[in-house]
Amino acid sequence: MKKLIFLTVLVCATVPLSAKSFFKGQKEYLRECRSCHGSSQFFIGKFSPQRWEELLKDSGKKLAFNHIQTNNSVEYFKSEQYLKRVEYIQAYVTHYFQKAKKQQ
Ligand code: HEC
Repeated sequence: MKKLIFLTVLVCATVPLSAKSFFKGQKEYLRECRSCHGSSQFFIGKFSPQRWEELLKDSGKKLAFNHIQTNNSVEYFKSEQYLKRVEYIQAYVTHYFQKAKKQQ
């Protein structure tokens, strides 16, 4: 039930984001994440929507912190580009879970 509420909130929060954001997020994933994490279709589903929300909120602070701490892609996670595009990654993750929900 909690998951459902979260998804509903996410959907409402991201309706104004155009489909373009989701495509930009996909592109960003392919460019900046795939080399380490592999296919997004597999990787995104490894974490719950709640975990993603936690990692990506506040301009993806926690996600950046975790990577910088473990010395992975430090330059990217400290960059302006990351701060600008993390919302697209969020849109992409949201889209992924919406699609997964429809297929249930
Ligand atoms: C240079 C390699 C590298 C790149 C590039 C990279 N990651 Fe990671 N990421 C890691 C490693 C290593 C971990 C830690 C894995 C572990 O703890 O088993 C990690 C952890 C994670 C986690 C789990 C974090 C947690 O605390 O639960 C997520 C989610 C994640 N990465 C997403 C991303 C996204 C999104 C991108 C692209 C914007 C990205 N990563 C780019 C190497 C990378």
